[in-house]
Amino acid sequence: MNNLLVTGGAGFIGSNFIRYMMNKYNNIKIVNLDALTYAGNLFNLKDIEKNKNYTFVRGNILDRGLVKEILRKNEIDTVINFAAESHVDRSINSAREFVETNINGTLSLIECCRDEWQNENGEYKNGVRYLQVSTDEVYGSLGEFGYFNEETPLQPHSPYSASKASADMIVKSFVDTHQFPALITRCSNNYGPYQFPEKLIPLIIYNCINKQKLPIYGDGLNIRDWLYVEDHCSAIDIVVRKGKIGEVYNIGGHNEKTNVYIVKKIIEILNRKYDNEINENLISYVEDRKGHDRRYGIDPSKIKNELGWEPTTSFEAGIEKTIDWYTNNYNWLLDIKSGNYKKGV
Ligand code: NAD
Ligand code: DAU
Repeated sequence: MNNLLVTGGAGFIGSNFIRYMMNKYNNIKIVNLDALTYAGNLFNLKDIEKNKNYTFVRGNILDRGLVKEILRKNEIDTVINFAAESHVDRSINSAREFVETNINGTLSLIECCRDEWQNENGEYKNGVRYLQVSTDEVYGSLGEFGYFNEETPLQPHSPYSASKASADMIVKSFVDTHQFPALITRCSNNYGPYQFPEKLIPLIIYNCINKQKLPIYGDGLNIRDWLYVEDHCSAIDIVVRKGKIGEVYNIGGHNEKTNVYIVKKIIEILNRKYDNEINENLISYVEDRKGHDRRYGIDPSKIKNELGWEPTTSFEAGIEKTIDWYTNNYNWLLDIKSGNYKKGV
């Protein structure tokens, strides 16, 4: 692994991943291909942009000419596909972009890789690898007990998760049909710095700071399994280097919490550290999300036992760090909220 193409690297997890890799290795080069949709933001990588081993290219993963040129010119041996439309609520309002980027974009990307990496005898260049960053949402919803493992049937409910499940199937079909050297990861809910404030945790932090209502969908008892973003990054690093081609790896740290617990925890920390007028009176129960999955819970035994991955940040430490980051970088939140970050792009 020397020359990486990271797609969607200006978004939340992609930017954290690029920072993680740049800090960990000095013998890799990273090209970040990102279309800079509403969710992509070059402010997320300000500290990295001058690194001589890092290049940013603005473009769409659907642009075959551009993707092939990047693969060839940079002798890319590893592709990690983060690029996606990622927000469930947006997919409920309009699914078209989700099909375009998440399904057609993935197909286009793997076809470009296959074309560039395979010779006329069908053999792939040595050591080339493609990692599809997928999600636990492809498995659907759990009842009170049990966990998602890699054998759990795919049963997506939202247009977002259906598009991610479709992409996973296409990737697998290329492994089975073309021996395409791909791996898939399926991670639980991430939280941490640089997350777009439409997602639960940064949205609640922003609204608390501004004493705005804190919308909780339905009864607030839906459960998500939260993982600090850097632990997701370390898992992807291990899977892309040591994982077995054709395999799926679930990523999670057994951190299941109800939404109402998360909201109250944020209130408690901000009240203690930031402003003692932030309190539970701000909570507002609102109409439920359509098709709202009740519970996610990842069984991470495979990645732990086979690849030796372990998360290192507990939820208690991670949520404090995250809240400190958003309060210390409040201007980032303001820029994102106002759309200022798009100026000059
Ligand atoms: P995000 O919305 O913050 O970032 C997505 C990035 O992709 C943005 O920078 C955007 O500009 C870029 N992008 C969108 N369409 C593109 C296109 N057609 N071509 C090039 N770039 C494009 O998303 P995120 O939360 O960082 O998620 C990254 C990946 O991880 C997604 O594939 C998502 O499904 C997956 N995932 C997310 C979570 C989570 O909790 N956020 C958990 C598991 C898996
Ligand atoms: O599980 C992994 C997935 O996690 C990723 O694949 C997605 O890209 C990512 O967006 C996330 O999806 P969720 O739908 O779980 O995340 P979100 O932050 O939108 O919502 C978390 C929970 O909080 C969910 O049960 C809905 C609820 N919620 C969300 C918002 C935005 C609220 O109650 N109020 C809100 O305002």
